[in-house]
Amino acid sequence: MYDLAVIGAGPGGYEAAAYAAKLGKKVVLFEKGEVGGTCLNVGCIPTKTLLRSARAYSDCREAERYGVTVSAPVFNMPAVQERRKQVVATLCKGVSAMLKGAGVEVIKAEARLAGRGKVVAGEREIEAANILLATGSVPAVPPIPGLRESKTVLDSTGILEVQQIPESLVVIGAGVIGLEFACFFAELGTAVTMVEMLDRIAPVLDEEIGKRLHADLKKKKVVIQLSCRVTQVEGNTVHYTDAEGKAQSVSGTQVLNATGRQPVLKGFGLEEVGVEVERRGVRVDECGRTNVPGIWACGDCTGRLLLAHSATREGIVAVNTMFGIPDRMRFSAIPSVIYTHPEVAQVGATEEELKRQGIAYRKAVMPMAIAGRFIVEEAGKSGTVKVLVSERHGQVLGVHMIGGCCGEFIATAAAMVELELCVDDVRQIVFPHPTLSEALKETVLHA
Ligand code: NAI
Repeated sequence: MYDLAVIGAGPGGYEAAAYAAKLGKKVVLFEKGEVGGTCLNVGCIPTKTLLRSARAYSDCREAERYGVTVSAPVFNMPAVQERRKQVVATLCKGVSAMLKGAGVEVIKAEARLAGRGKVVAGEREIEAANILLATGSVPAVPPIPGLRESKTVLDSTGILEVQQIPESLVVIGAGVIGLEFACFFAELGTAVTMVEMLDRIAPVLDEEIGKRLHADLKKKKVVIQLSCRVTQVEGNTVHYTDAEGKAQSVSGTQVLNATGRQPVLKGFGLEEVGVEVERRGVRVDECGRTNVPGIWACGDCTGRLLLAHSATREGIVAVNTMFGIPDRMRFSAIPSVIYTHPEVAQVGATEEELKRQGIAYRKAVMPMAIAGRFIVEEAGKSGTVKVLVSERHGQVLGVHMIGGCCGEFIATAAAMVELELCVDDVRQIVFPHPTLSEALKETVLHA
């Protein structure tokens, strides 16, 4: 009898399994593919590896700005792809070693719920006091005629494997995935067109910052068609209805479907065991409990926030709760980063959310160049920090940044929001000089 059986070894499942094992629990972890899940194998890590190569390429082309002459840099796609595979393999090995070290039994097989407290995988049937579902998500394929059938259309997994730089690319959906790939290919010289049905890119972003990202992508010659809904795909041609309701089309050497991800809910006995599912995914409470006692869920399969670091925290909260350690999930201070060049990072409320909720606030918007390091590092580039604080107490409610490697210090802002720090608290924190993070402190003090 196990204390915990985990289904799915992504950042939700493997971290929860290791954590429970370190608490002294007997843990088994089932994975039908590779450990590391979407994030490590076909998501966060491989995309960031590709983007890093694109940045190295851009840096060479912009080297004159730093007084360095580089002649004709070459983007060697096979070598770039080889590096991507090596990075993934190294990290997968690391996760396997970490799980072994923690004492987690890993079973490489497809698992299925076989009743309360029972999991079947191949020949094995095991019993566990608790089962944590961490089955993740897959790219969504909306019912657009021709989308599934077209051989030119790739999803975020398929496009990782490209061996040649496409001459042109049509991206359906200007969400996070679409934007990161648009940036990657535009930097390699691909003519990128994005078709987005909303009237703005990345609706999760604070609007002001979203507009700045839009402008930066335009500088990279990315064409972004807003308020345009894709209606059909024929081979390499994407048909859409524009803002005026007129039929339009655009063709590309390759088409990327980046219209969202959907939770994995089928094929492992959820319905048979009676686990309730709502529109976005498995229904859970703030501790990760499903409606079935002893069955818990975390990460993308719950459809709450499709972010690796949120999945990890959700898994830890579930483990703590199942073993009697008080904990609960809060989503108000989970940072997110879009790894375009420039990077975008945010945490807490957007200005639009504060307005909708009728919360009185003050804001400060400052150029990142107020930090000397920005001028040093980002020759010819711009960046912005936007901070929202409560009108009454000056409590930090939201931080939104674009520029440089702002994702690297958004955690500082997340601490401010999570710990409900006010402007005067932040005044007492010493930020290292010279770093970009000084722009964050300065902007908070201005708010
Ligand atoms: P998304 O939900 O962020 O964006 C999809 C976009 O497609 C939306 O803007 C939507 O309006 C548009 N769309 C849908 N149907 C359309 C149609 N017929 N015509 C035109 N536009 C259409 O989904 P995305 O970018 O696929 O990402 C999936 C999830 O993965 C997100 O929740 C994201 O947060 C997560 N992710 C996070 C990353 C990060 O944190 N850096 C990186 C990659 C993914």
